[in-house]
Amino acid sequence: MRECVIIDGVRTANTRAHAQKGWFRNVRPDEMLTAVYDALFERNPKIKAEDVEAVYCGTANQAGSQNDIARWAWLAGGFPDTVATNGIGQQCPSGMAAVEHAARAIMVGEGDIYVASGVEDMQKVPMMFAMDVPPRVLKYYSMEDLPMGATAEKVAEAYKVNRLDMETMAYWSHKKAWEATQAGKFKQEIVPLQGEEEDGTKIVVERDQWIRENITMEGMAGMKSPFKEGGVVTAGTSSPLTAGACALLLMDRAKADKLGLDYTLKYAGGAMAGCDPTMMGIGPIFAVRKLLERMKMAIKDIDLWELNEAFSSQSLACLRELGIAQNAPFDNVNVWGGALALGHPLGESGARIIVTLNNIVKTDRKDVKYVVATLCGGMGNANASLWENVKKK
Ligand SMILES: CC(C)(COP(=O)(O)OP(=O)(O)OC[C@H]1O[C@@H](n2cnc3c(N)ncnc32)[C@H](O)[C@@H]1OP(=O)(O)O)[C@@H](O)C(=O)NCCC(=O)NCCS
Repeated sequence: MRECVIIDGVRTANTRAHAQKGWFRNVRPDEMLTAVYDALFERNPKIKAEDVEAVYCGTANQAGSQNDIARWAWLAGGFPDTVATNGIGQQCPSGMAAVEHAARAIMVGEGDIYVASGVEDMQKVPMMFAMDVPPRVLKYYSMEDLPMGATAEKVAEAYKVNRLDMETMAYWSHKKAWEATQAGKFKQEIVPLQGEEEDGTKIVVERDQWIRENITMEGMAGMKSPFKEGGVVTAGTSSPLTAGACALLLMDRAKADKLGLDYTLKYAGGAMAGCDPTMMGIGPIFAVRKLLERMKMAIKDIDLWELNEAFSSQSLACLRELGIAQNAPFDNVNVWGGALALGHPLGESGARIIVTLNNIVKTDRKDVKYVVATLCGGMGNANASLWENVKKK
């Protein structure tokens, strides 16, 4: 079996998906995606777009301006039409699935170079837009239990995650994300792109919009649940509605060596797992267990985790159930903050957390050996992927 390594990864800033406040409110999602494709080839002049075997792209909601978006964004960038594109739909894990499809194709020798990407603009194409739930599904699950917020409330109750712990997690997520932003950590992955401030002033967007640098525990304490009467999950402990795009360049390791390209992480394996859609947030528990069992590894063998923070409740339930951590602040989980602060553009996040993990290993945590990225997804799909730091002897 051949080996797949990450040559590079880029993303746009994650911005508010809001018609008045979003910095990318007048940028189309395909334009965000074209911008990250452009950046990949500008940053890696040894690789020509025509040498790419195929482009995978994850998008949770493939409707409207996100319908076949990989093809449109690729062609709109003036890239060769001889390169095939493939949209992947698996709700939130879509972007991670795109990376895994590319990695597996490289490993079995179908091609040497792939682009894997993810994109979502939750303003232009809102969650569950045009989704037609099959009536027969409702024999098994109640419609009111299926929306994401309802699942977050159900997980909080089932796993006894209290509100204070959830808010503490959100607090640290914002703190770490802001610290990382101020220290310039995301500069290596964020592609500057023109947007506009709330008052219409044109700006070059170079940082994530959702981070609340002045977050306080008191500010969150008074918030009400938008999901359930008397519920415990609030806007403060939910990932916010976000827009963003991300892309990675993946390559056969031998080919990268031949071209003299640098890399750090090698794909070591992946797993998908399904679970009850009304408890979709606990999916990473099953995906991670399946992955580690197959790799004959244990939680203690993993040095660093990126666990997408869809909601504090499900993140804490997963971390506790897996025995990774009890409460924030965490040492080895989401070290530059997570989706509560950085945002969660559904189909983008699975790719984004791999890009961020790669950069954390390249800079702040050079000594780690094995790292895992994992996330849950609407309707009960979860993915986990294992990466090996090949620079660590
Ligand atoms: C929770 C949710 C409904 C809130 O949406 P919204 O009402 O549009 O709220 P916003 O995120 O714009 O925040 C509303 C207000 O809450 C307050 N707020 C949010 N987080 C806060 C915090 N940490 N501290 C203090 N105030 C906060 C602010 O006043 C904010 O408005 P402002 O930033 O414009 O001043 C929405 O973010 C959501 O649905 N999130 C989940 C998305 C999802 O399901 N993703 C898929 C997961 S699998």
